[in-house]
Amino acid sequence: MLIFADTANLDAIKELNDYGILDGVTTNPSLMAREGIQGRDAVLTHYRAICEEVNGPVSAEVIATDYEGMLAEGRMLHAIAENIVVKVPMTPAGIKAIATLAQEDIPTNCTLVFSPGQAILAAKAGASFVSVFMGRLDDVGHPAIETVQSIIDIYEAQGAEAMVLAASIRHPQHIIQCAEVGVDAVTAPPASIKQLFHHPLTDIGLEKFLADYRKVQQQA
Ligand code: E4P
Repeated sequence: MLIFADTANLDAIKELNDYGILDGVTTNPSLMAREGIQGRDAVLTHYRAICEEVNGPVSAEVIATDYEGMLAEGRMLHAIAENIVVKVPMTPAGIKAIATLAQEDIPTNCTLVFSPGQAILAAKAGASFVSVFMGRLDDVGHPAIETVQSIIDIYEAQGAEAMVLAASIRHPQHIIQCAEVGVDAVTAPPASIKQLFHHPLTDIGLEKFLADYRKVQQQA
């Protein structure tokens, strides 16, 4: 399972990349705003910096909502770097833009997907990734993992090439659930990824190993 960082924070991206466990990055307008990035030039400069740090796919979301606008923005974003994946919302115009961008060999990430029906259309249009928003589904009382599982089953049955990208991750358990059902990629906030490192028994075990080592060294 690929692990993407769901953040626009460069320090957090660098930290995860240094561990050697980062396969890519996803951003959205809210995450860019959280970093205080204002204005078109600043946004493009920031994407360039992320792409210099990360070799894998970096999802950059379009702001336009009309077909022509999404196409123009998608082409411009992809021109920043080869590894930019154009993130397009799951709307009729978005699906049309994904289909056109796919014909131009520009990779896309269809975002705001909440149902198997939407996922079928995104794959049909040629989306490279389909972002299923787990946390937001769970928030409204719909078991997200059931939707994710259904989409995986459909893609397998149909031989769809789109990759299932679990998004809107709220906690490490979401990441583990995704791995269990065979999700292609998960994008999670850095804090949720880093929580996977920890277990109290690991800390206790390491402390004991080192204490035993020191005891013998002092006797020698
Ligand atoms: C990433 O691709 C999505 O935009 C993101 O995971 C949404 O997360 P949220 O539901 O926590 O805003």
